[in-house]
Amino acid sequence: LIRTTVFSCANIIAKGRCNCIISTLPTRPALAMSSVSVPPPKCLQKTFVAPRRHMFGPGPSNVPPRILAAGAEPVIGHMHPEMLEIMSDIKSGIQYAFQTENNMTIAVSGTGHTAMECAIFNAVEPGEGVLTAVNGIWGERAAEMAERIGAKVNSIVTTAGGYFTSEEIDQALAKHKPVLFFLTHGESSTGVVHPLDGIGDICHKHNCLFLVDCVASMGGAPLYMDKQGIDILYSGSQKVLNAPPGTAPISFSERHFLMKVFNRKTKPVSFFLDMTWLANYWGCDGKPARIYHHTAPVSAFYALRESLAILAEQGLENSWQRHREVAEYLHEGVENMGLKLFVKDKNARLPTVTTIVAPPGYDWKEITSYIMKNHNLEISGGLGPSVGQVLRVGLMGGNSSKASVDMVLEALRDALRYCHKSKV
Ligand SMILES: Cc1ncc(COP(=O)(O)O)c(C=O)c1O
Repeated sequence: LIRTTVFSCANIIAKGRCNCIISTLPTRPALAMSSVSVPPPKCLQKTFVAPRRHMFGPGPSNVPPRILAAGAEPVIGHMHPEMLEIMSDIKSGIQYAFQTENNMTIAVSGTGHTAMECAIFNAVEPGEGVLTAVNGIWGERAAEMAERIGAKVNSIVTTAGGYFTSEEIDQALAKHKPVLFFLTHGESSTGVVHPLDGIGDICHKHNCLFLVDCVASMGGAPLYMDKQGIDILYSGSQKVLNAPPGTAPISFSERHFLMKVFNRKTKPVSFFLDMTWLANYWGCDGKPARIYHHTAPVSAFYALRESLAILAEQGLENSWQRHREVAEYLHEGVENMGLKLFVKDKNARLPTVTTIVAPPGYDWKEITSYIMKNHNLEISGGLGPSVGQVLRVGLMGGNSSKASVDMVLEALRDALRYCHKSKV
């Protein structure tokens, strides 16, 4: 077997005398040259282009060009001074979005679930009590996470679409005496925004930490971490912030740190989510040296920084107001079409994710697939307790506009016409 090998000499080329030397070398059979038994996948030889879609489901939302461009900047080291500065900007942006002065404010490298686990793992030790408020899927998830670390979990449960009164919460805390109470501010599975005023005080009266999930509500509905006495608050990047999924803002109150993190009997079960380590990496623990903990998702942090910059430029209150007005415009349009909204109490309707009662006589999956296929637009069905009961429309961040509502209504109208006809 003969192989032809071409050597080119950079020096010769540089001097303008490009004389390639062609030599013939003996070579081994192809099989012996390769130690791999799995060949390179054919599918990876095709160029990848992501579909362009209107992302009007409960998340992720569309990422605007400015945020995409920030994420495409060259990667630098996760401990480089410029990166530490970006992290410090992110921290300030989260403090603004959460309305908190908490020093222990960071972005977890991971999705909303990672932040959920970070909150629970750091706040609770095995054998301690946790109370979760279940009015959709997220209270169930929090209960499952706490159970996995050996906590004694109790839940208060209400119907999908409902929420809890302060009295109900007070009574449950008195009965179960948990160290942590979990509540979802924006229940994206049912479309409910939970009232928060006064609940922090009730928790503290019972010597209990108040943990709130604002993954689907941050930036889209009023929220004041410090004023509302929230001890731990977390969110996600892929909803109102319009950044790609994969980073999750989280903040811990001083009360939490004094009461818990620095007074633990056991280490948190997760090294990756241990706040004593993360606080050091994010420069929140006052120590002069930052120690390597993990390689942060540098590009995702660029994108998160840009998304927080956009929120800061627009102003939080303007963003809350726009989401409310656009949601009301959607509600009106939906009702004018003869459809019903799932959340009866107007004040409890989440401005970011609207739940529409699944039109009777239709298959909701047919409606969502039709709209995806013919309008290139995502709306989704229910999740957890709302499966089969609702259609969910999420208009978040840059997607929260009356033009988007018009597109959704047009797509729904068309789907109801077509899907109905197909059933007659
Ligand atoms: C209210 C709420 N909490 C938590 C999550 C989990 O976030 P992720 O999917 O980013 O892990 C979601 C995601 O949709 C959510 O809407």
